[in-house]
Amino acid sequence: MPGDSLPQHVAIIMDGNGRWAQRQGKKRSSGHRAGAVAVRRVTQAARRRGIPFLTLYAFSTENWNRPASEVSTLMRLLEVFVARELPSLQENDIRLNGLGDWDALPPRTRKSLARALSATAGNQSLTLTLAINYGGRDEILRAARRLCQDWRQDNRPPGAISQDDLASRMDSPGLPDPDLLIRTAGEKRLSNFLVWQAAYSELYFTDVCWPDFGEEDFDLALAAYAQRTRKFGGL
Ligand code: IPE
Ligand code: IPE
Ligand code: MG
Repeated sequence: MPGDSLPQHVAIIMDGNGRWAQRQGKKRSSGHRAGAVAVRRVTQAARRRGIPFLTLYAFSTENWNRPASEVSTLMRLLEVFVARELPSLQENDIRLNGLGDWDALPPRTRKSLARALSATAGNQSLTLTLAINYGGRDEILRAARRLCQDWRQDNRPPGAISQDDLASRMDSPGLPDPDLLIRTAGEKRLSNFLVWQAAYSELYFTDVCWPDFGEEDFDLALAAYAQRTRKFGGL
């Protein structure tokens, strides 16, 4: 694949853990566990292909609406997953990064994430960003609040606000916009993911449920991306 047809930033809405489990007569929690294995697989695949940014939607601001037992399973899974993967992240020069409002996470999950973030801060080959308690609208709202505060402090006119002023107050200002956004399990919606940043992302949908999503599926998405013509409104 020619170098410039490789996306620099791939973002994934990892969907279908529950359906994958239900189809096999298993509990939803086993789907989430299998989903964690897929995270490891796809992260390694991205690393091997030289993609510098991979962002995964792990828990949305709307996912609190699920039964409390499922929410706590997911939080515990995140906590354990990050701790368990830390040696492999180091070995593969992967930096862990985050999106979302982590203040509302259970302290143990937050601690595990914070530890991995600081331990991998110097790694450079791949930035793996986990979106947890993340909602695009919530992110924009929080950025707008910061912006208002700064503006009021300096007594600046609203007309002076640029797109960059807002973008630089988002959760991870250093992250480029995603070139390719993948959603698994057949659903064709954003579900509040990267509402601002995905304005010009190429969208790719597959029916494969996330726990089954493997290296070949990732390559199919990359091949589809390589065929796209990006125009950004031009000719
Ligand atoms: C995605 O799988 C994982 C999360 C949203 C945390 P789902 O749990 O949404 O699986 P389905 O959509 O019910 O099959
Ligand atoms: C989106 O999946 C959120 C994550 C993948 C974390 P959902 O399964 O929660 O989305 P909806 O409810 O089908 O839109
Ligand atoms: Mg779902």
